[in-house]
Amino acid sequence: MATTPGSDTERSLFGEILDWMLAPLLFVWPLSIAFTHYFANNVANFPYDQALREHVAAIARQVKLVGGKPVLTLPASARALLRADETDSVYFHVVTQDGKLLAGDKELPMPSELPGDASLSGEIYLRDAEYNGQDLRFAYTWLADPTLPRERWIVVEVAETTEKRTQLANKIVASVILPQFVIIPLAVMLVWFGLSRGLRPLTRLRQTIEAREPADLSPIATRRVPEELEPLVEAFNAMLERMKKNVEAQQRFVADAAHQMRTPLTGLKTQAQFAIRETDPEALRHALRQIAVGVDRAGRLVNQLLTLARTEGGEPAQQRHEPLDLAALIREVVEDWVMVAIDKGIDLGYEAEGDAMIMGNAFLLREMAKNLIDNALRYTPGGGHVTCRILNNQVSVVLEVEDDGIGISEEQAELVFERFYRVDDAMTEGSGLGLAIVQEIAMQHGSRASLRPNPQGRGAVARVVFAAWQAPPPPPPEPDDFSELYRQSPPIGT
Ligand SMILES: Nc1ncnc2c1ncn2[C@@H]1O[C@H](COP(=O)(O)OP(=O)(O)O)[C@@H](O)[C@H]1O
Ligand SMILES: [Mg+2]
Repeated sequence: MATTPGSDTERSLFGEILDWMLAPLLFVWPLSIAFTHYFANNVANFPYDQALREHVAAIARQVKLVGGKPVLTLPASARALLRADETDSVYFHVVTQDGKLLAGDKELPMPSELPGDASLSGEIYLRDAEYNGQDLRFAYTWLADPTLPRERWIVVEVAETTEKRTQLANKIVASVILPQFVIIPLAVMLVWFGLSRGLRPLTRLRQTIEAREPADLSPIATRRVPEELEPLVEAFNAMLERMKKNVEAQQRFVADAAHQMRTPLTGLKTQAQFAIRETDPEALRHALRQIAVGVDRAGRLVNQLLTLARTEGGEPAQQRHEPLDLAALIREVVEDWVMVAIDKGIDLGYEAEGDAMIMGNAFLLREMAKNLIDNALRYTPGGGHVTCRILNNQVSVVLEVEDDGIGISEEQAELVFERFYRVDDAMTEGSGLGLAIVQEIAMQHGSRASLRPNPQGRGAVARVVFAAWQAPPPPPPEPDDFSELYRQSPPIGT
């Protein structure tokens, strides 16, 4: 059967159910045949056993004890009746317990130990035995005479071959099994049909999903969906909802980014037009320098946009978190910024005691520190102080960037983490993306960044709290079996 990938997955559920329904049948069927066979034998035995009992009873009635000796008066017609069976051979004999044949067929074997209670005269018992390769069914009874010794008690036995019984049993089995050859394929067909009907909602659901526009993220209607599929559709809808939010955020971001890019580009264009008209070489050089500064600024904005997009997108390399020493990492970043701080006449300091292990991504954490230090230096006038600090109490590791610059109000402190939000866009320069990036990275480390007015009075303090990372305890040392040996051996060379 040629199958497309779609119909392949569809078939497997169908096949699975079918297999689980029909495979047990393969076990149940032989079992049912065995049962049928057993019960058919029982049923077939019943009427013929009845006849056999009557024969035994009839013969037993003909045995008379005359003066302590048994005398069998069986009319010839009765003997003929016994022989009259068309299919089976019927035998009988009257014997004493110790094996003396009184009457009947010589070819019948003498009974050895017979089950049953011999003293219950008239009670008829049944048994199976094999004789001369023939299966025989026996009915027998005792004629007990308490005045005689036990071995002289008389046994009357009638036996017949089991041909009739086998034939009847086979007929019963056939009449039960044969209809099944029609019924079982019919049942399989009905199950097949019912299954394909029952699984139709799945096909319908697939068609609904396939028929969707690529951009359609609206939820799938659960109205006609069967109960069992509803959780699946709901989970799918929840995923669509998340995707929709994501796409919307992405679209908003792209729109914001485009808007933000327009401002520096417009500035560049104005400056370029200005430069074109300029004839004085000195003024032209100045205009070109302005353009270079503008390009730098635009470049920085693009870089930040990319950083944010990458951080949010969670590129695989940036999702890898590993144990690292935050104190060492921050010291490196601070070292990179010393020259910038000196240029601005700001005292950039670093405080930490020992190492501070956390679980994190070095690339992202460097990006975070860069943005916080950049802000502190940017919003602190010359002559000010910026201190990067690591506090470690073994439970949590705190990164603090403290400055004594222009500071921040309580109300603004929340808003500044939003993208493109800037407190004083006219007076200072920036993209408004720095803290958004910081927050995104903090969140990826299971934390939240905050910016608060500096409790020391002037300036602001940026804080990010991380969970401290503890090295797992080393495995217990293997017991050293040889240590005892080493201790006892005398030191070499003394
Ligand atoms: N250390 C700080 N001191 C005072 N204000 C700050 C500080 N850091 C950030 N801000 C305020 O938060 C705003 C947003 O910061 P940020 O997201 O880094 O964007 P940008 O620095 O590009 O403006 C800044 O415009 C500034 O007003
Ligand atoms: Mg900034």
